[in-house]
Amino acid sequence: MILHPKGMPDILPRDQNWWLKIGQVTSEVASIYDFSFIETPIVEHSSLFEASLGASSDVVEKQMFVLKTKGGDNLALRPEGTAGVVRAYLENRLGYYAQPLKVYYAGPMFRYEQPQAGRFRQFHQVGFEVLGDSDPFYDLQILLSVSRFFNLLKIKDFIIRINTIGCRVCRPTYRRKLQDYYSKIKGEICPDCERRLELNPLRILDCKNKKCIELKAGAPTILDYLCHSCNSHFRKVLELVENNNIIYESDPYLVRGLDYYSRTVFEFFGRESGAALASGGRYDYLSEILGWHPLAGVGAAIGVERVIEVLRAGKMEPDLKIKPKVFFIAVGEQAKKSSTVFIERLRQAGIRVGESIGRESLKGQLKTADRDRVGLVLIFGQKESFDETIIVREMATGEQETIMLNKLVEEVRKRLN
Ligand code: HAM
Repeated sequence: MILHPKGMPDILPRDQNWWLKIGQVTSEVASIYDFSFIETPIVEHSSLFEASLGASSDVVEKQMFVLKTKGGDNLALRPEGTAGVVRAYLENRLGYYAQPLKVYYAGPMFRYEQPQAGRFRQFHQVGFEVLGDSDPFYDLQILLSVSRFFNLLKIKDFIIRINTIGCRVCRPTYRRKLQDYYSKIKGEICPDCERRLELNPLRILDCKNKKCIELKAGAPTILDYLCHSCNSHFRKVLELVENNNIIYESDPYLVRGLDYYSRTVFEFFGRESGAALASGGRYDYLSEILGWHPLAGVGAAIGVERVIEVLRAGKMEPDLKIKPKVFFIAVGEQAKKSSTVFIERLRQAGIRVGESIGRESLKGQLKTADRDRVGLVLIFGQKESFDETIIVREMATGEQETIMLNKLVEEVRKRLN
C-alpha cells in the first residue's frame, strides 16, 4: 500500500472544524486590521529563496524541496511566504495602489525537516505583511494582529519575545564581537556552529545544541552595539508595545533563522509546547537583496498545525458559527427515488442537509444522524411518500410530528430558528 509522504499528514474531516475556525479568525483579524488577501504560487524560482533567506540558512542549505522543470527551470516548493509576497509586490508594482500595502495569506509551506511533534514537511501558515513603511507603528500593528488572532481563539499560554538585530551600520560590529567571543571557545561549540562562526555568527545564538545554549550566556548582546537609529527604532517599538499593554520579554539573544531580517524580530512562544507558534520581524533590505529599490517591510507568520495542537491539548471546542444541520432519512424504493427532489428543495432554501441514502434501514440511517449530533431528522418512508407527508423528529426529545410535504421548507426553517 502506498502511504502519505513522510511529514505530510492528511487533514481529515474530523479536524475540519478547527481549520474552519482558523479560517474565520484569520478573516476577522484581516478585516479588523485592514489586510487584503494575496495568493502567490506554491512554487517559486529557487533563486528567490536562496537570495532572500540566505544561502547559508538551514532552510536553503538543507530543507528546500527543489525540482527541475522540463524547460530547465529550478523551482522550489515555497518554504515560507514572505519572499513570494515581496516578489509579487515588486513585480506587480503594488506600491502604486497603497502605501503601505497590508496583505495576508494562508496556505501550505514545505521544509524538508525531521518530522516530530509540531514539525512537519508540509505545514500551513497564516501570514500578515505590511510593505512600504518602516514606522514602529507597523511593528506594533503586526504584534497586535497576531495577538488578536490568539485572543479570538482564547489562547493565552504564550510569551512574546522581542529583540532587534540592528541594521547594515551596526550589525557588522556586533558580528565581529560575536566572532571574537566564539573564536576563543571554538573547541566547545558544535561542528555546525564552528561553520557558522565564519559565515553567519548570529545564527550560533539560535543553535539548539545544549552546550551552545550554555555558552550563549557569556556572549555579547546586540543592545550594546546598536547604532543611534536602530536604538531609537527599538525603543519606540517597545514603548508602543507597552502603551498597548502587550506583555513581552526582551530577549537580547533572539535571532531568526532567515537572513532577510533587520531590526525588530519576535516570536510568540507556546509555554506548554515549548515551540514557536508564530514568528516574524522587520525585513527592510529584502527588496534590495532581490535587486529592486529599497522597500521597508514587517510581518509575521503563524504556524497553523501548532496552534491547532494547543487548542486540542487545552480540550477547547471550535465554537463555529455554522448553520445547524437537518438529516433526511428515506426508507423504501419509492421514497428514495423522490427524496432527491425534497433534499434539493431544502438545500435551495439554504438549509444544511445531511443524508445517508445508501443505508437501507431506518435504524442505520438514524444511527448516522445521531453520530452527526443532528437536532432535527426528517423521515420519509413508503407511507409518507404515498400520503405526500413527512415525519419531523426532534432528536433531543424524541417528539415527532407528521406534516404535509408542501410545508416542509417552511416548517424546517421555523424549527431551526
Ligand atoms: P518561521 O519562523 O520560519 O518564519 O515560521 C513561522 C512559523 O511557522 C513558526 O513560528 C512555526 O509556528 C511555523 N513553522 C515553521 N516551520 C514549521 C514546521 N516544519 N512544521 C510546522 N510548523 C512550522 C517565517 O516563515 C517567516 N516568513 C515569518 C515572517 C513573516 N516574517 C516576516 N513576515
